[in-house]
Amino acid sequence: MNDKNLKVAVVTGAARGIGFEIAQRFHSEGYHAIIIDNDYTTMEDCQNRLKGKNGYSYFLCDVSNPEQVKSTFEKITEQFPAIHALVNNAGIAIFKPAEEVTFEDWTAVMNVNLNGTFLCSQASLSALVLGKGSIVNIASISGVRASTLRIAYGTSKAAIMHLTKQQAVEYGNKGVRANAVAPGPVETEMAKLVHSADIRTSYADAIPLARYGSTEEISNMVYFLCSPQASYINGQIIAADGGFDAAGVGLPSLRV
Ligand SMILES: NC(=O)c1ccc[n+]([C@@H]2O[C@H](COP(=O)([O-])OP(=O)(O)OC[C@H]3O[C@@H](n4cnc5c(N)ncnc54)[C@H](O)[C@@H]3O)[C@@H](O)[C@H]2O)c1
Repeated sequence: MNDKNLKVAVVTGAARGIGFEIAQRFHSEGYHAIIIDNDYTTMEDCQNRLKGKNGYSYFLCDVSNPEQVKSTFEKITEQFPAIHALVNNAGIAIFKPAEEVTFEDWTAVMNVNLNGTFLCSQASLSALVLGKGSIVNIASISGVRASTLRIAYGTSKAAIMHLTKQQAVEYGNKGVRANAVAPGPVETEMAKLVHSADIRTSYADAIPLARYGSTEEISNMVYFLCSPQASYINGQIIAADGGFDAAGVGLPSLRV
């Protein structure tokens, strides 16, 4: 494959967890995978895990910092003028009762989850147009169904869903599709941090498939949305959640 035919996927927050899996998936499908993350140690671990493999690039960048995003995408597009897939996956979660959420907590969550998605999409738009590329934003089932402890996280994810529709409408005119995936619970470092034993039991009870999803199950959906098989899908929010969203009035007492 010569450089002109090389497909390029950029995944943010990809040094571990769901993003890492997504980057590996694109790589295994022949893409050059560009991993963006802001955590030095996690990035070092990631590079060690992928040691000796060609076809990856690594950029330390805080997606919530406009200057860093601008310079990172300038560096990326100097090397790879066309981008074929952008996955806005970087996210943080702060779970607290609403009255304990400080303005700093609120701002931190919005800055990474929402502003980061906006900034990276805007910074890569010309390259996405050139690559006739596609954006997938990683939302969450917490943006679909409201819950306690997630006033900042859930609101940021709901905003990402509307941002996705805005992007689909405006960027669609330029040939760039935008969709979002709303994962249910997935066993990652983030989940370890915010899912207490109680939350885990309740998820098993509330999700029709009665289990957590895997990083692979999320990356399958992300890859599909960026593939030619999804060429007419634009502006959609797709839950990969074992039926959690579909359950609606899913009272445990009404289970069969
Ligand atoms: N794990 C779940 O249960 C779950 C469920 C629904 C949605 N999600 C979403 O999936 C995405 C990935 O989550 P995960 O579970 O893999 O989390 P994770 O914490 O394991 O990984 C997130 C990665 O993003 C990076 N990151 C954080 N802030 C960043 C920033 N400002 N700039 C660049 N990189 C940054 C972290 O360093 C980390 O490597 C997030 O958007 C999360 O909200 C996760």
